[in-house]
Amino acid sequence: MPVTPTSGRLQWTDVPPPLRARLEDALGSPVTSAVTPKGGFGHQLAATLNLADGRQVFVKAAPDDDPLTAANVHEAAVLDVLPPGAPAPELLGIHPAADWIAVVIAHLDGPHPDLSPASGDAAQTWALLDKLTSSPATAPYAAVASNAPSTTAALHGWDELLADPPGDLAPVARAHLPQLAELEATWPTLAHGNRIVHGDLRADNMVRDHNRGVTFVDWAHATTGPACIDAASLAPQLVLAGHAPADISHLLHQHPATATNPETTTAFLAALTGHWHRNARKPAPPGALGLRNYQHHAAAAGLAILDYRLS
Ligand SMILES: Nc1ncnc2c1ncn2[C@@H]1O[C@H](COP(=O)(O)OP(=O)(O)OP(=O)(O)O)[C@@H](O)[C@H]1O
Ligand SMILES: [Mg+2]
Repeated sequence: MPVTPTSGRLQWTDVPPPLRARLEDALGSPVTSAVTPKGGFGHQLAATLNLADGRQVFVKAAPDDDPLTAANVHEAAVLDVLPPGAPAPELLGIHPAADWIAVVIAHLDGPHPDLSPASGDAAQTWALLDKLTSSPATAPYAAVASNAPSTTAALHGWDELLADPPGDLAPVARAHLPQLAELEATWPTLAHGNRIVHGDLRADNMVRDHNRGVTFVDWAHATTGPACIDAASLAPQLVLAGHAPADISHLLHQHPATATNPETTTAFLAALTGHWHRNARKPAPPGALGLRNYQHHAAAAGLAILDYRLS
């Protein structure tokens, strides 16, 4: 039976006892406590397990028939083939039991990065993205990425808003609706590429680990694509964190991942922003607290950047 709580995440105590026993066996130590971090919108178990021997691991788990299980299995496969030095934690194991699957990942210790202008974390993240996308993905990574359909390539929203414009559409969006829909329509053909794409880069999908520095987590949407996707996704996050849209727009013209491909960057930003503008207006899905509110703000941030790229 699918387990989908109407609010919050599954807890360690929701995990079937045979899977808990299997994990403790594989980890070689009983679990003394489980801590669910704040952040994210998922309903699955995503928690730090504190072990009796003092170690910590991070675990994500859900029932087999929960769509998040396929995403977790994809994430595990991706973590296993990311090149050495990639800003990601190591995969420690995948454990099926009692019609659930748990993925165990190395624990990162630290807060989410501070992407505000006052912090150096944003600059560190830009540098990581330059390094991650400056050369093609390895063959093992590309093989794993090709096993899962890219949700990034399917982003859209302006087409539906153009067909039936809502009364509360932002004036900039209203003034440019046909152009936004045209730009977004070019995205699926531009979405292909051979670079590593995290595909869901937000502050809550990063941890500033005390030893490793900024590290990307939640690789469930990882795929291959043009170099610009993660850098362009980061841009609205920085606006949400307090950066001026003009500064971020300027940065996009300078960063290697986006500067070399302005047309693709604009098409992607249009598709992503259209997705947010459309989805922010939909009823909230169960178990995804705060998602619509986030999309509402992200939609405005994306549009503020896009405004500098529209004619
Ligand atoms: N390896 C890790 N070590 C420590 N904390 C982590 C680790 N991976 C993720 N986290 C923390 O757990 C939270 C949830 O993890 P993650 O984003 O992978 O789960 P999710 O259910 O896929 O999230 P989402 O809600 O974004 O879909 C993250 O926001 C982060 O704070
Ligand atoms: Mg997440």
